[in-house]
Amino acid sequence: MLDKIESIKSEALNASSGISDGDSLEQFRIKFLGRKGTIHELFEGFKDVKPDEKGKVGKALNELKVLLQKIYDDKKSEYEKTGGADDEADITLPGRTFNKGTRHLIHQAIAEITGIFSKIGFDIYEGPEIEDEFHNFDALNTPEYHPSRDMQDTFYVDSKGKDKRYLLRTHTSPGQVHVMENSKPPIRVIVPGKVYRNEEVSARSLAVFHQIEGLYVDKGVNFRELKGTLDHYAWEFFGKGLKTRLRPSFFPFTEPSAEMDVECILCKGDGCRVCKHTGWLEILGCGMVDPNVFQSVGYDPDEYTGFAFGIGIERTLMVKYGIPDIRIFYENDIRFLKQF
Ligand code: DAH
Repeated sequence: MLDKIESIKSEALNASSGISDGDSLEQFRIKFLGRKGTIHELFEGFKDVKPDEKGKVGKALNELKVLLQKIYDDKKSEYEKTGGADDEADITLPGRTFNKGTRHLIHQAIAEITGIFSKIGFDIYEGPEIEDEFHNFDALNTPEYHPSRDMQDTFYVDSKGKDKRYLLRTHTSPGQVHVMENSKPPIRVIVPGKVYRNEEVSARSLAVFHQIEGLYVDKGVNFRELKGTLDHYAWEFFGKGLKTRLRPSFFPFTEPSAEMDVECILCKGDGCRVCKHTGWLEILGCGMVDPNVFQSVGYDPDEYTGFAFGIGIERTLMVKYGIPDIRIFYENDIRFLKQF
């Protein structure tokens, strides 16, 4: 019996080094400590031990039991500490999904609109956000006394010690001036970017928003091409075959000037709350480049003509999706952003 105990002891010690996971731990328990296990068997056999050996054998048997229980307890707590994690990954488990997020709606729109124009030959230019008065106003035929120069509308930058007055651009139109100053016609360019106005924030206006400017200059560019190009844009962005119209308007840097409307996407022109029952939604300002603008960049207005347009991104998205309040773009409420 004593020999048997000794051999089981070394068998158990051997087996314990093979315990590597929950399964092998359980196997160990069943084999040595279980109801039909080795210890149980040995205790069953104890009654047949000769009385004069009972003391020795009993002691050895008890020691074996305590040892096996300790091996089991130690291995178990080791296993639980590692969270039961095996070294090998279980590749049958389903993968963990995570939220990749998306581009902000405004940037999606800029990418889509610049994409539409670059497919028909327009380059992309990004001008500075801090401009001087020449690029933002003078070169764009906007004289000194023009109301948009007013402190109420324009954020001026501290220009002390500078030779010019600087400001945060109030529109992307100065991008036209930079492009014309630095290249010769033919020019086809769009200028996306942020613009700044000293406006009270409300459901309809923000102090920082986005525009995309367009400019096309060459010999013999006419108003028909302006309409054709902008119709193409409107159909690509808002929907094929939607009715559009040009309404006469005024901008200092274009003559003649117009605003473009698209048939209300929600009511298809019948009149609803979104289009204020007119059936139309305004989407951009445009016109033929004023000869004075050409002169200020050194182009000969008798040689070149061109058209320009300005798209307000937030406004465009409000029209496209029937968004009633411009501030929602910047609240970054995930429930709003997730929809796009
Ligand atoms: N710059 C104008 C604005 O901020 C938008 C605009 C209108 C741009 C007509 C143009 C244009 O190029 O031709 O309201």
